[in-house]
Amino acid sequence: MRAVVLVGGFGTRLQPLTLSTPKPMLPVGHVPIIERLVANLARSGVSDVTFALGFKPEPFIEAFPTGECAGVALHYAVEPSPLDTAGAIRFAAEAAGIDDTFVVVNGDVLTDLDVAQLVRFHRDRGAEATLHLIPVADPSSFGVVGLDADGRVERFVEKPAPGTAPSNLVNAGTYILEPSVLQRIPSGEKVSIERVTFPAIAASRGLFGMATDDYWIDTGQPELYLQANLDVLAGLRRNDRSVAVHADASVDGTAVIDHALIGPGAIVGKDAVVRRSVVLPGAVIGDRATVTDSMVMGRIGNDAVAAACVIGASGVVAAGEDVQAERRPQPIAK
Ligand code: GTP
Repeated sequence: MRAVVLVGGFGTRLQPLTLSTPKPMLPVGHVPIIERLVANLARSGVSDVTFALGFKPEPFIEAFPTGECAGVALHYAVEPSPLDTAGAIRFAAEAAGIDDTFVVVNGDVLTDLDVAQLVRFHRDRGAEATLHLIPVADPSSFGVVGLDADGRVERFVEKPAPGTAPSNLVNAGTYILEPSVLQRIPSGEKVSIERVTFPAIAASRGLFGMATDDYWIDTGQPELYLQANLDVLAGLRRNDRSVAVHADASVDGTAVIDHALIGPGAIVGKDAVVRRSVVLPGAVIGDRATVTDSMVMGRIGNDAVAAACVIGASGVVAAGEDVQAERRPQPIAK
């Protein structure tokens, strides 16, 4: 089975981290999101993956110089300009010569879904397209579906106004598509699969959805990116568990690391305290600094305090400064 993984977005909600590193290349539990995603596809029987690239393609190509990731053969399709999700799928599938049933995954989704199970569901129903669905407490910021008893999507509503959602089952960003879906997407045009193509397939009764309660997280927002890291540290993933401090990090013996990840090349100074945070590769946390609920790529000076902050690669909290961001990461209710 072949797959297209969408990795060409700007990742604006995760700025400033994504100013230097594209979102799918950011680490979760010290491993790039994209590598964890491809490993799960490999476990489900996918043997060949095409990255649909646009914004910052080079880091992907450099990260996998042998054209292989998690035992899967990689191909790269770089769009001349952003084509949005459907346009990118058509462009990448054509570049890869895909002409059979295939898998599509959003490059920022981490899940334990067995994709082979989704393929069986798709084939049993003779679907043109099948969505992986996840139940959530508040569906208003997602694509929400209303299903019939056989799993056929009767309605597909992108980001419904609060209180108007047809169910609590949302598009979880993994799809099985027939090649005929590509013919529905105008070539070389910017088209959204969520807003245009899926509603059209639903209208012709070819769109199905399969709900599961597998581990699932969309890492596209700061608080969810942090949560994904804490989840893999806590061992909530079926096939994975991360260590807190990478072997190539330098952490002073007096520092307190509490529910936090310290990446390779990062330095944590004397008596520093790091709680519920991700210290990314190469970041520096000064002596006696306190970092909570934060993601840090840059430098936190000696005696500084950073709470609920997202600090990019060139970001600095000066020595002795106290920065408390307004947006505090919240635990995610599913
Ligand atoms: P935000 O800017 O924060 O919304 O993030 P994003 O740009 O990643 O957008 P979003 O999370 O909605 O996109 C879902 C998936 O589609 C992500 O994996 C993106 O990388 C990918 N994506 C979005 N737009 C494009 C595009 O124009 N081309 C390609 N190749 N991928 C895209």
